Amino acid sequence: MLEENPYFKITSKDVIFKNPKGFPKPIYDLTKNKPSVEGFTLGRKLFYDPILSVDYFTSCATCHQQFAAFAHIDHPLSHGIGGKIGIRNVPALQNLIWKDAFMVDGGINHLDLQPISPITSPTEMGENLPNVLKKLQADSTYRLMFYKAFKDSIITTEMLMKSLSQFLSLMISSNSRYDKFIAGADTLSIIEQKGLNLFASNCASCHTPPLFTDNQYHNIGLKPDSNLNDKGRMAITSFKEDYFKFKTPSLRNVEMTYPYMHDGRYRNLKEVMNHYAASQSCTKMKFDEFEKVELIAFLKTLTDMEYLHDRRFADPNTY
Ligand code: HEC
Ligand code: HEC
Repeated sequence: MLEENPYFKITSKDVIFKNPKGFPKPIYDLTKNKPSVEGFTLGRKLFYDPILSVDYFTSCATCHQQFAAFAHIDHPLSHGIGGKIGIRNVPALQNLIWKDAFMVDGGINHLDLQPISPITSPTEMGENLPNVLKKLQADSTYRLMFYKAFKDSIITTEMLMKSLSQFLSLMISSNSRYDKFIAGADTLSIIEQKGLNLFASNCASCHTPPLFTDNQYHNIGLKPDSNLNDKGRMAITSFKEDYFKFKTPSLRNVEMTYPYMHDGRYRNLKEVMNHYAASQSCTKMKFDEFEKVELIAFLKTLTDMEYLHDRRFADPNTY
């Protein structure tokens, strides 16, 4: 079995949770679903397995790719079963246990419920839960893995969700050059420091370190796309004032997660900076060309190579 490749073997050291220095206490209660070697290994197998989709073709990892911090880089809107196109860009997956709500409109409020949405969405994996459980139950490898993780041979939705959460909860990015700079273990160039200063006075109120999000919803002055007709946060709250507000995304690994915004409308960071420099944006300062370069240089210090290459999150079916 490929999983016996020692490179991919998960050991007890791999599943220890350590709160990164300077990070707040997680919102997800890890004591209720503590990652174990067996549970994490199972969650990883499921994340990379198209068995969760109706056509055995689409896995979580089809849309969430590690080299892109688990976003998807070659098209603006997500592609699911049979090439069906969703209405939103695929976000990065990282530091999920510090989120109070998921999706760009905050429509899901618990990590253990999140995977139900892609599994059952007609434009994502197109399945239903009873059928997924049936497929897993019929597979002797899964029966054994679920038994080892949960000491139960009848696979339930709760076991499925908890194993995925054990995998997702340890997806922590906290080792970028910026983090090393804050810890006094690395330096930033003059340009990066100028970018950091611009960021602190113009961006950090929403993209608040260390998570680079305030966990709130804002309308940043983008023009709504009438074809998509996305109402943003208003779709969840029905409040008019929430129209076209979106949850502030973290900017960790932002260099790797293009295209940008809820609908992937901007192909690169230069286009994003042009938006923030324009008069209709939510920022008061109108950046000149040098300042845009400085801001981008700073944003690239948030790239966490250790996370992007962490073997624990890599596809265990490859060499
Ligand atoms: C067809 C592509 C696709 C597939 C397959 C897919 N996702 Fe996603 N995922 C998305 C998109 C698009 C969003 C954002 C949707 C939104 O905000 O409305 C998302 C959002 C998420 C989020 C919330 C992130 C956040 O910060 O709010 C998590 C967690 C997640 N997906 C996990 C999974 C898991 C686990 C699976 C497999 C069971 C999976 N996804 C399968 C496209 C996909
Ligand atoms: C008022 C709050 C607010 C301020 C101020 C703000 N942002 Fe944002 N930012 C957001 C929200 C909300 C989004 C998501 C919008 C969407 O998805 O349509 C976003 C998206 C982004 C994205 C795209 C991320 C992605 O993964 O798609 C980047 C990059 C970004 N902001 C950088 C900055 C920079 C740099 C500044 C300062 C010049 C800044 N932001 C100021 C709230 C803010």
